[in-house]
Amino acid sequence: MSLEFAERIRRIPVYPVASGYDLGADTAMLASNESCFAPLPDVAEAAARALTSTHRYPDPSYQPLRRALSNRYGVPAGRIALGNGSCDVLLAAGEALLEPGAEVVYAWPAFSVYPHLAAASGARAIEVPLDSEDRHDLDAMLTEITVATRLVLICNPNNPTSTALGLEPIESFLEQVPRHVCVILDEAYCEFSLRIGDPYASVELLRRYPNLVLLRTFSKVYGLAGLRVGYGLSGSEDFRTAVDQVRQPFYLNAAAQAAAVEALKHQDDVDRRVERTLALRVGLEDGVRGHGLWVAQSDANFIWVRLPDDADEPALVAALRERGVLVRAGASLGRERALRVTVGTEAENDRFVGAIGELL
Ligand SMILES: Cc1ncc(COP(=O)(O)O)c(C=O)c1O
Repeated sequence: MSLEFAERIRRIPVYPVASGYDLGADTAMLASNESCFAPLPDVAEAAARALTSTHRYPDPSYQPLRRALSNRYGVPAGRIALGNGSCDVLLAAGEALLEPGAEVVYAWPAFSVYPHLAAASGARAIEVPLDSEDRHDLDAMLTEITVATRLVLICNPNNPTSTALGLEPIESFLEQVPRHVCVILDEAYCEFSLRIGDPYASVELLRRYPNLVLLRTFSKVYGLAGLRVGYGLSGSEDFRTAVDQVRQPFYLNAAAQAAAVEALKHQDDVDRRVERTLALRVGLEDGVRGHGLWVAQSDANFIWVRLPDDADEPALVAALRERGVLVRAGASLGRERALRVTVGTEAENDRFVGAIGELL
């Protein structure tokens, strides 16, 4: 006899995890939008130091990290939600805000975890197609807001299409959203965006929109994906209180907390890495465009490539993998005949560009 699971288990989509972590050091890991730079030595040391006291539970108030983020962004510590990756904050937001009869609005394709929120809570998911340039269509999203809407998700820059909107259209969108509807602006990649320009600019919006949450992560620009630290800066304390209420007390481990606090002390190094990533991104885009392929205007640490109509996407991804290059198939992210390719090192990017040229 097999186990009987809750009804929602049949509804929750399986997250399309990347394969290939067992392929060895020579593989170009361009499938998960990670940083191609290892953590800074001081950051790795801070995490290692924290390991010497792991017979104790981690600090459940997370004060040093809350304080460091509060000083950085000028947002009161009580309005900063921390999480085991920003995904943790996102899922907790779904749990805190959604229930049967409620609606969540988001663009599609966007971050693969968004469909999970409605499926897990029994709420209705309203997926609004991206526009012809693979950007959010905020006007169309506005028309989907009803009395049942509890949550709107805007992925900016958008994963998987790498496109971003400037803050002006986002502010005029926020102006028209009722104040009891929570808007999460998922900014996992905002530091890589020339269109957004300044990662502090959206923080200003929190003063005017108490229903706004900026979701950010240490996984990308700070290169700490393996430790899992994310945060939400919110316009009111209610959001932080609610997401903390639905989670276990010790959601952020000691090494992760220590590494994140240290990482925030090295902003100049982080900024240099961003500049280097942007230069590598230009090289990758040019290389792919050189093969006659359409590449979206990227504002992230990855690019989005449309494949020709007759391309066999699964076969292409498999052939790239055989050549030691892992990329993400568009079909697994909501759009067929496309590839999402993370900006890697120069050698990794060259390997991808060479391989795709040969294969197409
Ligand atoms: C748009 C977006 N939001 C959130 C996340 C979650 O990041 P993490 O849980 O590693 O902080 C990701 C990860 O890829 C992402 O692409």
